Amino acid sequence: MPPLVFPSPSLSTKLLPPLHHSTIPSATHSRRPHLSGDPPRTVVITSGKGGVGKTTATANLSASLARLGFRVTSIDADAGLRNLDLLLGLENRVHFTASDVFSGECRLDQALIRDRRFNNLHLLCLSKPRSKLPLSFGSKTITYLVDALKTLEPDNPVQFILIDCPAGVDAGFVTAIAPADEAILVTTPDITALRDADRVAGLLECDGIKDIKIVVNRVRADLVRGEDMMSPLDVQEMLGLPLLGVIPEDAEVIRSTNRGSPLVLNDPPAPAGIAFEQAAWRLVEGDTMTAVALEEADRQPKKGFGWFSFFGR
Ligand SMILES: Nc1ncnc2c1ncn2[C@@H]1O[C@H](COP(=O)(O)OP(=O)(O)O)[C@@H](O)[C@H]1O
Ligand SMILES: [Mg+2]
Repeated sequence: MPPLVFPSPSLSTKLLPPLHHSTIPSATHSRRPHLSGDPPRTVVITSGKGGVGKTTATANLSASLARLGFRVTSIDADAGLRNLDLLLGLENRVHFTASDVFSGECRLDQALIRDRRFNNLHLLCLSKPRSKLPLSFGSKTITYLVDALKTLEPDNPVQFILIDCPAGVDAGFVTAIAPADEAILVTTPDITALRDADRVAGLLECDGIKDIKIVVNRVRADLVRGEDMMSPLDVQEMLGLPLLGVIPEDAEVIRSTNRGSPLVLNDPPAPAGIAFEQAAWRLVEGDTMTAVALEEADRQPKKGFGWFSFFGR
């Protein structure tokens, strides 16, 4: 799979061109994102509140990073209903899990499920999807596991390890965040999600994770304009954290979930897919976006991507 590259360095915080999964000719793009930080980077995707889009974000960021040419392993540390295996369309391929590795039933490489579309993307489930994680599987175990992943292929090492965290702040959360150096805090623009996100931000910092960025998901421009929904700027100011991405409410998300194909691979691209792709680009470059006030957004000329200039730059 040729790497996806974009035309101009200045685009990283602005608008990226529409993506066409089936036509990714590297010749049409002059640049790949510059990887900031020291790989492998271990990023936990967390929220506090359930159902805000952690698994959706993990699947889409993983697919974007893989399409950009990075070697990615996504860890499903959530035993919820809508698991990462479903969103990636790999549910029939989960034969071994990390729990099987520790019980001696298989090797670590056997528990890594290769994605059907990108051979540089792997999924690792901690336990069988929709089953409970063994009580013995705690922070030390997952840290040991992630260390083993980092050294599994010395000639072709993994560059991103993304961990899909369970909801809540109990044992599953503590386990999922243990090996992470950075965190993406997913929230929806409502007060209950924000309260939980704020609490989680404090817990992450106590755990030594200082690099925390927010993704505001399921944003509706019409409601924000009518002051019936908090704006991304409000969310950012309340949490006091840098913004990695703003994702619109998009019916295509549920369709892509049902298809088992991350939305970023849609052709033609869907608004939420473009927003996730932009967030992935920023993640790679250690970049953030600036949310804009409504008045400023309304003053900006619409250039085809009105939705995006409405929320930030
Ligand atoms: N931007 C979005 N637009 C529309 N639906 C979304 C969006 N993001 C997530 N969803 C839907 O919200 C539900 C919860 O998402 P999920 O990623 O499973 O959340 P979590 O992992 O935080 O529990 C799913 O049905 C998903 O399809
Ligand atoms: Mg989930």
